[in-house]
Amino acid sequence: MANRVLVTGGAGFIGSHVADRFVAEGWDVTILDDLSSGREENIPAAARFVRGDITTPEAAALVRDGKFDVMCHLAAQIDVRRSVLDPVYDATRNILGTLNLMEAVKASGHVTRTIFSSTGGALYGDFDPPPSAETLSKDPEAPYGIAKLSVEYYLAYYGRVHGLDTVALRYGNVYGPRQDPHGEAGVVAIFCNRVLDGRALTVFGDGRQTRDYVYAGDVAGANFAAATRDLPPRGRLDARAFNIGTGIETSVNTLAETLRDVSGATAPIDYAPARAGELARSALNTAKAREVLAWQPTVSLADGLKRTYEFFAVRRARVNA
Ligand SMILES: NC(=O)c1ccc[n+]([C@@H]2O[C@H](COP(=O)([O-])OP(=O)(O)OC[C@H]3O[C@@H](n4cnc5c(N)ncnc54)[C@H](O)[C@@H]3O)[C@@H](O)[C@H]2O)c1
Repeated sequence: MANRVLVTGGAGFIGSHVADRFVAEGWDVTILDDLSSGREENIPAAARFVRGDITTPEAAALVRDGKFDVMCHLAAQIDVRRSVLDPVYDATRNILGTLNLMEAVKASGHVTRTIFSSTGGALYGDFDPPPSAETLSKDPEAPYGIAKLSVEYYLAYYGRVHGLDTVALRYGNVYGPRQDPHGEAGVVAIFCNRVLDGRALTVFGDGRQTRDYVYAGDVAGANFAAATRDLPPRGRLDARAFNIGTGIETSVNTLAETLRDVSGATAPIDYAPARAGELARSALNTAKAREVLAWQPTVSLADGLKRTYEFFAVRRARVNA
């Protein structure tokens, strides 16, 4: 019988790529999503869809009784700014919602591994020059990162005290087809739509701030590797955490110029005042994922941006048709 995976948030941007990957590998895929930001059209045809909220008893019952082998947990409130405006809302979904599922995993006796979508970009702060390794001190700037770090402490606890098998994947700034302008790499979606509108690409500050942009298909590959590889012993906070990025610092200026190159656009780049609270530099050291998960990114920035731009162009043409 095929292995069974539950993908929470599988109607969303990254979750739908994760679901696609497991379907392609012949797994039996179930998606749990409340469609608060996800879309039904993102769900692969071969997957079973359960509409539900991870904070509810119904979601817990699905996890407890669903006979899943693996849970990839991506459902979350993903907007960093919203977490600043409403930390209670953020913590309810991102901490309490996850605990609701983890208690169900504990009761299920069937789920052998949980893979949690954490963040690298919003976890390490700005005190040490990049690339950041997993063991670096954590200084999240916003409640969003604090919630992700809290969950990682809980996962370590579930491993140590209850023997559950958990993994945290700390993503860089994930971009690709189906992405949302509110996510950590929202700038890519915003720039693509600006190019399609024939408007200028607005850069905040001098554009030299850097991020680690990783393609969504590569992130899906990291989830699959985390589900199927032998992993080191669990217990300490960072033991089962893996940075998932390229290790490359890309400035917003380079991002804008590369997008113009691959889209053939001539949109001007204009500059607006820097936004408060933005990290100056960010990139992830991914040596551990390469070594332990045998994972590495395969899609270059130019290629990934081209695919992403084409996705938005096709969606625009469909809407306008
Ligand atoms: N996009 C990035 O750059 C990035 C970086 C680091 C980590 N992450 C993490 O990856 C995961 C996926 O993010 P994404 O960018 O694909 O965002 P997304 O908003 O596209 O996906 C989140 C999905 O979860 C669903 N959801 C939200 N709250 C829910 C709830 N209470 N119950 C059930 N479903 C719920 C949404 O409908 C959506 O389909 C999140 O955990 C996010 O924190 C994303």
